[in-house]
Amino acid sequence: MSRLRVGVLVSGRGSNLQAILDAIARGELSAEVVLVGSNRADAMAVERARQAGVAVAIADRAELTRRADRQARLLQALEERGAELLVLAGFDEILGQALLERFNARILNIHPSLLPAFGGGMHAVRDALEHGVKVSGCTVHLVTSHVDQGPIVLQAAVPVYDEDDEASLAARILEQEHRLLPQAVQLFAERRLALEGRRVRILPAPALSQPPRQTI
Ligand code: GRF
Repeated sequence: MSRLRVGVLVSGRGSNLQAILDAIARGELSAEVVLVGSNRADAMAVERARQAGVAVAIADRAELTRRADRQARLLQALEERGAELLVLAGFDEILGQALLERFNARILNIHPSLLPAFGGGMHAVRDALEHGVKVSGCTVHLVTSHVDQGPIVLQAAVPVYDEDDEASLAARILEQEHRLLPQAVQLFAERRLALEGRRVRILPAPALSQPPRQTI
């Protein structure tokens, strides 16, 4: 099987990017990261990409103040590198029409709550904690023009304890993010995701003799 060409967009720490790179290094994904795009030149994620020898595109907020210009630059780099799947791994911008159209139904995002709860904001972990939930978690979903509302691919739940603060709950959720996001990339690479309405079905691993099937 040829390896899926993945572009990853980042803005910060890059631990989810690292989880994907590590899974690839361990031989667990039939995928390669062909580009890391960042809207912050000084993001730790950029350093992680460079360490791993991955091509980097920078569309820095300070230099390119219009979101459309930044995303146009990132889109061009993704095209040049032949990305087939786009992964948002802590990318703090809403995607504009150009990226959405180009990667229609081929964009994954990781969000630190059990969507649709606590979507749409930048402080999902804090919001869940302040709301008093007893269970939280993370969601990998397909990205649409409706922020954090695209079809859900995978979710993992974690308990919330009385003694939790934002940092301890975020750390417990992050552990699951690092498992879930590479898993979603691999399911995509194996063409095992089928979209029915807004439900994403996970198809069983195909037998070698099976004919091709309708997937995203
Ligand atoms: C994660 O909590 C992710 O769910 C959210 O942004 C954070 C990114 O963390 N979308 P990192 O940059 O991958 O470490």
